[in-house]
Amino acid sequence: MASPSVPHPYVRPPRAGAVPLVGPKELLAQLYGDHPPLPVDIRPDGERARARLPGDRHLPLDRLPTEFGGLPRDRPLVVYDHTGFRSRQAAEFLLDHGFADVAALEGGIEEYARVADPTVGRYSDDGQGAELVVRQLPRADTGCLSYFVGDPVARVALIIDPGHDVTPYTGALAVGHWKLAGILETHTHADHLAGHSALHAATDAPIYLSRRSPAQYPHRSLSEGEAVPFGSQEVVVLETPGHTRDHLTLRVGGQIFTGDTLLLGSCGRTDLDGGSPDALWESLQDKVLRLPESTEVYPAHYGAHHALPDRYVSTIGFEKAHNEALTQPDRAAFLKYMTEGWPPKPKDFDRIVRANLDG
Ligand SMILES: [Fe+2]
Repeated sequence: MASPSVPHPYVRPPRAGAVPLVGPKELLAQLYGDHPPLPVDIRPDGERARARLPGDRHLPLDRLPTEFGGLPRDRPLVVYDHTGFRSRQAAEFLLDHGFADVAALEGGIEEYARVADPTVGRYSDDGQGAELVVRQLPRADTGCLSYFVGDPVARVALIIDPGHDVTPYTGALAVGHWKLAGILETHTHADHLAGHSALHAATDAPIYLSRRSPAQYPHRSLSEGEAVPFGSQEVVVLETPGHTRDHLTLRVGGQIFTGDTLLLGSCGRTDLDGGSPDALWESLQDKVLRLPESTEVYPAHYGAHHALPDRYVSTIGFEKAHNEALTQPDRAAFLKYMTEGWPPKPKDFDRIVRANLDG
């Protein structure tokens, strides 16, 4: 199995002086060596039911402060979680409490299953997502999120909603020797200048837009149910008007790229550039919310005034339960929510829309 050279999208690079990390392949070799470490799973019960490492010990993070005394001190410990963030906190705690040989599993069990041992289950294991790289590329100046989605075996990628500075994308492509199969816009953006034309000029990859886009520059039109292949993967199109008329939600296996149709905790406003709260309600109810609850949701924005967490992703199930727009009691309440209480329209949104449609 090929190991992608781009960093795992869920894992923050280690800081200097941080806890020791062990990589997935290194751990696999150690587990089958002469002195195997004890894997310690610090996830809650619900997550453990989805996947676990054989021969491990379960000690959830919230019980660690009171129960760490039961862990062996004469054996190396490798602490793990889903994606490698909380396990560092746990490893740091154990090192602070006198355990001499502790490491955290880099990338967590998700990365371990992906690059070291495919017999270990993955959270989103539906047979389609097992060979996929998803990199989230935030733009701190605008609070926008772009995505690099690639087949790591074929080294073929797509870029979704690129920003006007395309160096992060061309850099990622060059470093990993990726071929770019397409540039996709989820919709005509009104809040930032898009980078599709600059990225097309740099790579010659085609630009894909909704058939409803009024854009005049050369592009390929996408309709409901169409698929764009990249390597052995494909992105499937759902037409989800509401935030704009030309909005698409893009599905790759168990992941959806929702643009501004569905944000984490909210939905994109519907009062700019041909938006419609009625259309948004129907797009959500008829399409997006009918996907499996485990479907991972990757939005086009994060709160500009909030710190970006390591992993800005949610699930359909979580959003159904917690999203402020989705938990309105009925259609009428949703329409009221989407039409009242929003901040003033951005001053220059129509100029940005025109610029994005011109190229
Ligand atoms: Fe938008």
